[in-house]
Amino acid sequence: MKLPFAESYKIKMVEALRRSTREERVKWIEEAKFNVFNLKSEQIFIDLLTDSGTGAMSDKQWSELMLGDESYAGASSFYKMKNAIKNIFGFDYFLPTHQGRAAENVLFSVLVKEGDIVPGNAHFDTTKGHIEFRKATAIDCTIDEAYNTTIQHPFKGNVDLGKLEHVIKNNPVEKIPMIIITLTCNSSGGQPVSLENMKQVYSMAKKYGIRVLFDSARFAENAYFIKTREKGYENKTIREIVKEMYLYADGATMSCKKDAIVNMGGFIGFKDKELYKQSSMYNIMFEGFVTYGGMSGRDMNALTQGLYEGTDFDYLETRIKQVEYLGNKLINFGIPIQHPIGGHAIFVDVMRFLPHVPQEQFQAQVLVVELYIESGVRGVEIGTLMADRDPVTRENRYPELELMRLALPRRVYTNNHMDVVATALKNIYDRRETITKGLQIVNEAPILRHFTVELERVK
Ligand code: F0G
Repeated sequence: MKLPFAESYKIKMVEALRRSTREERVKWIEEAKFNVFNLKSEQIFIDLLTDSGTGAMSDKQWSELMLGDESYAGASSFYKMKNAIKNIFGFDYFLPTHQGRAAENVLFSVLVKEGDIVPGNAHFDTTKGHIEFRKATAIDCTIDEAYNTTIQHPFKGNVDLGKLEHVIKNNPVEKIPMIIITLTCNSSGGQPVSLENMKQVYSMAKKYGIRVLFDSARFAENAYFIKTREKGYENKTIREIVKEMYLYADGATMSCKKDAIVNMGGFIGFKDKELYKQSSMYNIMFEGFVTYGGMSGRDMNALTQGLYEGTDFDYLETRIKQVEYLGNKLINFGIPIQHPIGGHAIFVDVMRFLPHVPQEQFQAQVLVVELYIESGVRGVEIGTLMADRDPVTRENRYPELELMRLALPRRVYTNNHMDVVATALKNIYDRRETITKGLQIVNEAPILRHFTVELERVK
């Protein structure tokens, strides 16, 4: 008999979880104003809010912490990280930052001006936030297939070249400081971008003299999908694929809290020395001196080790197979999710799960609240709340999809936890007809409102 699949690691340290009662959870979610960001972690049983900064570090990463060099300037930890970034991505220059959005803040301070246009696949919310904060416009050019959760397409993160060229042709080229490709595309469901698409975008960008930047938060998961789905890459290693991917980028920002499996950290990678020099000034102002940029030496060490572990095939296979395990359970229960199953998370299609709740009443947030009450599982809304208001008209922006994301921390939960999540959702799905009323906003911030919004049930 063929031996079944098993994780490529064993567990050395554990953290206790506390189960709660439904009554407690009803009280807590009301106190939290129906916003799961306001819950305390001890009020949560299984936390699928994010895969960002929530992974379990390895024994080797923990031991690297002890070797951190905390020199203000020129720390060996910086040079370790510099070597890894050169080896893995091929970037000659880099700036450490404390996380992904900090990298965006520093780089966009140089590149993005009022009135600019930044096309890409689908920008992550902080990326869009940093663009719009500078009175520029972020334009999503993802392929149409990404907006239909039932279509099977191996690379739903791909940029639609027709849409991209339309944006370029209809705007002065000097108003387009860069094209951003997000790997994997978080907003469309953790969906990968093919190497062929990266090449095509790059060649179009060069035709018009525009820079290409990779938002690299989940670059290794993207490489795993290239290896397992794209013709010609099945026999290449993840690192070979990553090297090839970054031939088609002029620079990158990375939130290392994802594929580098650390709790905090980020960087900007550059091929262009001039841009590196201009960005250094902002790094020093916002983050810290160029050889630490908001990170401790020990954190740079753990991050460096994490970059190597995160680009190991056996690790990635274990990771992606757990996401598939949860996704397949939900599919077997008939629950509508984004197909194919993505890299870091399952995205439940709430327009099909709760069709009786109006989109204006924050359909996806309603399911997030129900799931929490049912089981103590915390997911997150990717829908109208997260889409914010239009910066000009201040009207709500209604995205094409209302999604609930269940993001899986790396190396943290077992498949028994996944069974709890799937069963809880099945219980809600069985009684979905009874859920007809949604939520309304009591209080909201002008930008990135979903983090702090306060809601109440529609009477
Ligand atoms: N880019 C992508 C694609 C992301 O998913 C994130 C964060 C960032 C940039 C910003 O990085 O958090 O380190 O400042 N995503 C997290 C998530 C928050 O839950 O998906 P950061």
